[in-house]
Amino acid sequence: MEKFKTEKSKALFEQTRLVLVDGVASSFHKAADEDYPVCLERGYGSKVYDVDGNEYIDYIAAFGPMLLGYCPDAVNQVVIKQLAKGSQLAAATPELYRLSKLLTEIIPCAEKVSYQNSGTEANLHAFRLARAYTGKQKLIKFEGQYHGWADEEKVSIDADSVRDLGDREAPRKLYHSKGQRQETADDVIILPWNDLALLEQVLSKQAGEIAAIITEPIMCDSGPILPQPGYLAGLRELATRYRVVLIFDEVITGFRVALGGAQQYYQVVPDLAVFAKAIAGGYPFAAIAGKRAVMDAGVHASGTFNGNPVGVAAALATLETLQAEGVYERLEFISRLLTEGITALACKYQETVFCTCIGSIGILVFGMNKPAADFREFLEQAALLRYQQFVKKAREYGVRFTARRGRIYLSTQHTEADIQKTLQVIEQVFAELQGGL
Ligand SMILES: Cc1ncc(COP(=O)(O)O)c(C=O)c1O
Repeated sequence: MEKFKTEKSKALFEQTRLVLVDGVASSFHKAADEDYPVCLERGYGSKVYDVDGNEYIDYIAAFGPMLLGYCPDAVNQVVIKQLAKGSQLAAATPELYRLSKLLTEIIPCAEKVSYQNSGTEANLHAFRLARAYTGKQKLIKFEGQYHGWADEEKVSIDADSVRDLGDREAPRKLYHSKGQRQETADDVIILPWNDLALLEQVLSKQAGEIAAIITEPIMCDSGPILPQPGYLAGLRELATRYRVVLIFDEVITGFRVALGGAQQYYQVVPDLAVFAKAIAGGYPFAAIAGKRAVMDAGVHASGTFNGNPVGVAAALATLETLQAEGVYERLEFISRLLTEGITALACKYQETVFCTCIGSIGILVFGMNKPAADFREFLEQAALLRYQQFVKKAREYGVRFTARRGRIYLSTQHTEADIQKTLQVIEQVFAELQGGL
């Protein structure tokens, strides 16, 4: 197999970094171990194409939104029609009713909805709703989970080692950005995930101050780590008992594990849920869905571009496409084909991996053969460096995986031929890893 050459990407990065901070528009666009990121020219279906003319089979999905693949025709056609009517109106529109009604029909917790433009904003709005509804201030957030880049959110999202996380019973708060105002996180309580006993201990002492528990229903940003049987139902029960708002951050799981999100998949209904990424087929858009009493707590959603007509049109087209019969069965089929193929190859090359999928989210962790229980176990046991080497080598042969901790995004556009080709590349990569190449 020939390795891809990416000289033009390199040259472009050298120029761009002189005028654009970090040379990329979001820190995730360049992996920490990359000298320069591959510079993309376009994406179509399951593939992306770089400025050097290389074609990649893509499992990054632009960090999640491209559930219908790149350039989804059904979405783009509707957006083009909307552009002729106005890209922005900042007003009530008939489509807002249609989308809101549709969301209340497909998402279990959605008695009412509101709109934002990114997951970061929508989670902040959810915090405010929870505080208004309960009259309390504090939030419980779990270590290793990412809910956005705002001061209050970017706390304990990552760590270099378990030691950095501090005591399990009273984890240390970790801040991740220079300039981050730490006082805003005074109201954030950090806990390990998948541990109901510890959560109950904290709630039994401090519930009078705690407005919300925010969690990803699957810890997609680490591992991903799966909820242990009964954990989400336990969260639901504790939140109700202690009068705390349960927020599911479904920014990644939303529309990927089931049309109604992870809450439908696991049959646990939160009070509020936040959706972004895949909701609008690649257009920036976010929604909060929730119980009427919480949504009507008197917090008004403000924002010039909230519910903008392009996002609304794109979301309607995306959700209507996903409603077609067989879409989720097909996604599950193609995800299984890939993850079972990787597992078989790992076995052949005696590479220890845990690889599985839920809906269109794949999980690939090196150094473990079962799911991690929480972020601490993941940090202790996962072979993160090996995963990085795997990602780098696969990219050199034309397959793109996310650099962050083993999440694989499938789309409706991945074909069986894509999976076969991907597995050939992975076989080559495993052989090289074993040979120490
Ligand atoms: C689980 C989760 N929540 C929230 C966010 C923030 O969303 P956005 O990047 O749209 O602000 C992300 C982004 O990656 C995420 O993965």
